[in-house]
Amino acid sequence: MSAISQRALSIRPFIVMDVVARARELEASGRDIVHLEIGDPDFSTPEVIVRAAEAAMDAGDTGYTQSLGLPGLREAVTLRAREDYGVSVDPNTVVVTQGTSPAMLLLFGSLLDPGDEVIMPDPCYPAYPNYVNFLGGVPVSVRVRAEDGFRFRIDEVERAITPRTKAIMVNSPSNPTGGVLGEADLRHLAALAERHGIWLASDEIYHGLQFEGRPRSVLEFTDRAFVLNGFSKAYAMTGWRLGYLIAPPEFVRPAEKIQQNFFLCASNFVQVAGTTALLEAQDDVARMRSVYDERRRYLVPALREVGLTVATKPLGAFYVFADATAWGRDSVALAGRLLEEAGVAAAPGVDFGPGGEGFLRFSYATSMERLHEGVSRLAGWASANGSGG
Ligand SMILES: Cc1ncc(COP(=O)(O)O)c(C=O)c1O
Repeated sequence: MSAISQRALSIRPFIVMDVVARARELEASGRDIVHLEIGDPDFSTPEVIVRAAEAAMDAGDTGYTQSLGLPGLREAVTLRAREDYGVSVDPNTVVVTQGTSPAMLLLFGSLLDPGDEVIMPDPCYPAYPNYVNFLGGVPVSVRVRAEDGFRFRIDEVERAITPRTKAIMVNSPSNPTGGVLGEADLRHLAALAERHGIWLASDEIYHGLQFEGRPRSVLEFTDRAFVLNGFSKAYAMTGWRLGYLIAPPEFVRPAEKIQQNFFLCASNFVQVAGTTALLEAQDDVARMRSVYDERRRYLVPALREVGLTVATKPLGAFYVFADATAWGRDSVALAGRLLEEAGVAAAPGVDFGPGGEGFLRFSYATSMERLHEGVSRLAGWASANGSGG
């Protein structure tokens, strides 16, 4: 018997990190690698946010804060909810965390007993099934397909509901697919949640980065919802570690107890800077969004041109999830070959679930110049391997 806990053994490794490690090795040996594998914005954090953090540090905002977070930040979250979605959120239901990732622990930790099920898309962000497994819950995958824009088919979601179902996980715009759920999708999912007495858990971290239509929050459609959000993507703040959970009132105290015991609080001056982000950096978000959009408009046709299939245009986040079966069915092997032979790093689709096998995820959180270079290398590789578009 292994000395290592089942809980730790149940966490699947993130293969893209092996791609990153191998890319770094190749770089150390002098190779130039085009990085299209990582979901980390290439922008620096907007000036106004950086200045706010500096001022907060100068002012001595360096001690613990309330576990629930600074009142000003929780108020700013409610202001954004009102302005962006026209919904009223009680600031007492906002729990500030050190990123969206710990907010997942608060959410699933306060919701799940062993054996409880959470429905989620396949492919999806791999932390969802890992958190659910870690807490003794059961992730239940519902396939989403390229031809549907990677949106749930509502009848399939409904068929997956059992007496043990606690929640349906949604993530729009989505990592890895860039898919977006529209008003009708969210309305149907909200109706399902209400009809079955279960919850929607919505990861809205890519909301600032939707290119067509306005992002819709689940809170516009139901109160039976948890919202996860964070500053990493839209505000280019991945390394700052700040996010929040909006929880139904009865879950706030349980989430607060987890936060108090496991994390104490999010960083004080980072919370001050996050408040400024929500109140004063909307123009910066719009500027970055339009640059990402320009890259998306280049990359989608360019990937089709080199022989990959992008059945529906991604509408948000900064990823293209391309069907690469024309080049190989094993996404890990293919990502390995593209790295070694073409010097292009991409994330293997199977990292995001069995439904992602045969796909590669290309991130366009990198400059247009590097995107051009990456595409030209892919084109060269495809023609050398007899599989050009
Ligand atoms: C869908 C999704 N949710 C959450 C996260 C993690 O965000 P944070 O940096 O706020 O922990 C990521 C990061 O890639 C993501 O893609």
